[in-house]
Amino acid sequence: MAKNTLSFVCQNCGAAYNRWQGKCESCGEWNTLAEEDTTGSIPVSIRSKRKGRTFALESLAGKTQDAPRLSSGMTELDRVTGGGFVRGSVLLVGGDPGIGKSTLLTQATSLMARAGHRIVYISGEEAIAQVRLRAERLGLSDAPVQLAAETSVEDIVSTLSEGAVPRLIVIDSIQTMWTDTVESAPGTVTQVRASAQALIRFAKKTGAAIILVGHVTKDGQIAGPRVVEHMVDAVLSFEGEGSQQFRILRAVKNRFGPTDEIGVFEMTGLGLREVTNPSELFLSERDLGTPGTAVFAGIEGTRPLLVELQALVAPTSLGTPRRAVVGWDPSRLSMVLAVLEAHCGVKLSGHDVYLNVAGGLRIHEPAADLAAAAALVSSLVNAQLPTDAVYFGEISLSGVVRPVAQTPARLKEAAKLGFQRAVLPESARGEASGDAGLTLNAINSLTTLVAEIAARGSRRGDSSAPAEKNATPARFRRGEG
Ligand code: TYD
Ligand code: MG
Repeated sequence: MAKNTLSFVCQNCGAAYNRWQGKCESCGEWNTLAEEDTTGSIPVSIRSKRKGRTFALESLAGKTQDAPRLSSGMTELDRVTGGGFVRGSVLLVGGDPGIGKSTLLTQATSLMARAGHRIVYISGEEAIAQVRLRAERLGLSDAPVQLAAETSVEDIVSTLSEGAVPRLIVIDSIQTMWTDTVESAPGTVTQVRASAQALIRFAKKTGAAIILVGHVTKDGQIAGPRVVEHMVDAVLSFEGEGSQQFRILRAVKNRFGPTDEIGVFEMTGLGLREVTNPSELFLSERDLGTPGTAVFAGIEGTRPLLVELQALVAPTSLGTPRRAVVGWDPSRLSMVLAVLEAHCGVKLSGHDVYLNVAGGLRIHEPAADLAAAAALVSSLVNAQLPTDAVYFGEISLSGVVRPVAQTPARLKEAAKLGFQRAVLPESARGEASGDAGLTLNAINSLTTLVAEIAARGSRRGDSSAPAEKNATPARFRRGEG
């Protein structure tokens, strides 16, 4: 009986269905299903019956060596990988087209090749001339990187099996690769998976490290990097706003290192520049002294990072007010707004609320709650916050300000950048004692912060923030009926 081997595979996540449907039930994307022949995904040679060999079973205890690492020559890249590329490991670098993946890898491979390692760069997307042109622009033409424009995985594997094993191989990009073992077109899930599998096998066999470049795609025309994420040892994501020069390299998965580290780069006319002190960068163009801005003392990985949060609270003309947020979790914003409204009497239901993290950074920490609340209230009452203060602390649903990790590191960074004051959770005061010479304003509940900011507004005595004597001014009290 002939078996139907055609199936519909989601090009985003790789889920397979028997018939076509508009939406992938697995990842929720629309229009990403494409028909693929999945028969050949396991090569015939592997499927053929053979007698299994026996192997020894090991215990957990035993001698292991630290994974030997190859430094990329770029501190920020090494930080994200956890100290360099591990021999025999496969790493996926994902990101939007044009974000700078090829630039980053051209720079890193050139530095490593100059250090005397055999480095191979396979470009499936660009012709040799284009890659050379980029290297020229970066001033790296003299680096002894071995270059090829190839897309056949079999050809690549047999070429690289000759001679000394390369220390690092870059495949730019995995979506352009194809292998003979499957029949689908290049760029489909089946092809991308099979090609990645062949390359991973090569890495494990020879001990060469491989970097796969993967374009993040929205339209499902080609398979996204998600389909190989689970097969590789580490996944790095290269992010940034198109209009901003800052690029953030983030470890999403890492079998050999931490996953919360970020590397910060700046795209310049001469390639990517490493930013070793990101706080300076994210604060460099501060709107000093504008109501609605607060500096958040955050932590990314092991590194403290100061960044400005900007809020705008304006009366709305809509029935349902707008809540827009860039760089932070919208549901955390909703939560902070709800706590302000329920416990601090700050009425925001008649206002549009906009919150922006400056510099195109994305914050994932709940510790930003307090800074966000400060920025929101500051904008609402049109009272400028002290320009020499930083804020951090998590807000609970009851309005209590809860402690967060790494208080001393946050304070030290703030002091280093010339800040004089820190607004922080009361319960973190012990941890912070004697630190960095900042004036500490430890608060226990969000109500205290709101009252303090409102008092600043009334002290200024301008028309938009009428003078009020109470700790919790009347304009914040809930509309008692
Ligand atoms: P690229 O590395 O080709 O992106 P990807 O491989 O992720 O698709 O980089 C593309 C962008 O970077 C391109 O728009 C030009 C810009 N760029 C610079 O601004 N400066 C440079 O020195 C280089 C090489 C590129
Ligand atoms: Mg590229």
